[in-house]
Amino acid sequence: GTADIGVIGMGVMGANLALNMAEKGFKVAVQNRTPDKAFAVRDDNPELAANVLPAETLEDFVKSLKSPRVAVFMVPAGKPVDDEMAKLIPLLEAGDLMVDAGNADFNDTVRRTKEVEGTGIKFTGMGVSGGELGARHGPSMMVGGARDTYPLLEPVLTKIAAKYKDQPCVAWLGPDGAGHFVKTIHNGIEYADMQMIAEIYGIMRDGLKLEPAKMAEVFRDWNTRELSSYLIEITAVNLDEKDLETDRPMVDLIVDEAGQKGTGRWAVIEAQKLGVGATTLEAAVAARGLSSRRDERGEAAKLYSGVETAPAQFFADEAGFSELESALVTAKIIAYAQGYAAMASASDEFGWNLPLGTIAEIWRAGCIIRSHFLDDIAKAYDKGQRVVNILQSPDFVGRVAKGQAALRRVVAKASLGGIPVPALSAALAYFDDYRRERGTANLIQAQRDLFGAHTFRRFDRDGAVHHHWPAV
Ligand code: 6PG
Repeated sequence: GTADIGVIGMGVMGANLALNMAEKGFKVAVQNRTPDKAFAVRDDNPELAANVLPAETLEDFVKSLKSPRVAVFMVPAGKPVDDEMAKLIPLLEAGDLMVDAGNADFNDTVRRTKEVEGTGIKFTGMGVSGGELGARHGPSMMVGGARDTYPLLEPVLTKIAAKYKDQPCVAWLGPDGAGHFVKTIHNGIEYADMQMIAEIYGIMRDGLKLEPAKMAEVFRDWNTRELSSYLIEITAVNLDEKDLETDRPMVDLIVDEAGQKGTGRWAVIEAQKLGVGATTLEAAVAARGLSSRRDERGEAAKLYSGVETAPAQFFADEAGFSELESALVTAKIIAYAQGYAAMASASDEFGWNLPLGTIAEIWRAGCIIRSHFLDDIAKAYDKGQRVVNILQSPDFVGRVAKGQAALRRVVAKASLGGIPVPALSAALAYFDDYRRERGTANLIQAQRDLFGAHTFRRFDRDGAVHHHWPAV
């Protein structure tokens, strides 16, 4: 064969990834369950046609690949990956590599890695972020799997990746499920970022009574400073858009029910399993769930329409906007601290040795959460010292200490005014809990001991003790 690499699955992501490879000078074999789609990718892109080699069958696809063969799956997560692998494995030889580039559950990636063990065929799970445009012009890629598989992929991936300055946004992050785990946390953070922005939008709409076009102006302004990021940039575009037929702001016409494919939820589930409270991410996942129960919310709105709420007292002047901006920055730092804590904990638990600084580096461009702020995180990890938690990093302590007052005021005002800010308030609650030396788990321990003789430790004595409480 002559193809440098192959892509299976010509959906939007697969086709764009293949075209990106072709454009960078690689010969790419492409295959799809319905072969027409693979041929269309070549025929619809005449300028790249010489580098796109569509195959009628999986056999032809394998034959067209150079050895050792590298086949990238871009098919829906779950069973389709297992199905494709089962079909492909008999056609491959020892030394060939299969790459799952979909949004896989990292537990599946760990399982699949085990399943191919001993066959000589290699398997790698790789997270790809950046949506269609990213796939086409430069995604951020989080690669897992055995270390020795990476050299097979690296020449292609470094060429097709997004660049931050000159650095390609791709790296090998650790064995088996490491790449997909990191992608999952990326998505959990993506949910939190989006939810917090939506909460600020809620304050602007229901508290400040602003028109979307005015909000767009504010977000565009924020995009020039600390919050500068892709998600803030697109938010301004979303808010500025008018529906041509009705001449109304497009956001006002969009049904307020959020979809979700599951990766954000996985982040929260995995964090929970690791005993890490990623509460801001959790709030974001939960808010999407509640958003989709729109009829039920409508009924509840009627039942509680007259409840007493204090005036929220938001001020739509410059000071008011900068308070919202500071609140958002601060909550964002806390959300990322939670996501990073989950990765640090997974790294210990699974023995991955995740390079947390590198992860921030490869998230600086290409991915959905790309931002100026990720460069700050990269720098915090770049100093050689161990970062226990972003909230304890000298680079962030001052910023959080300064910004927390704004977050506190925004959450307080929104709460008084009956405007929900579940992710912002989760961030604030976490911050206050995190910095509280004397917590309240002593009472939890007392309760557990009373009803279940679970024992507790005392400050003034050694060892675990059980106390005989009065019978209740
Ligand atoms: C990315 C995104 C992408 C994700 C979509 C939709 O990094 O490019 O995370 O992988 O699939 O954003 O996700 P939801 O349907 O769960 O919102």
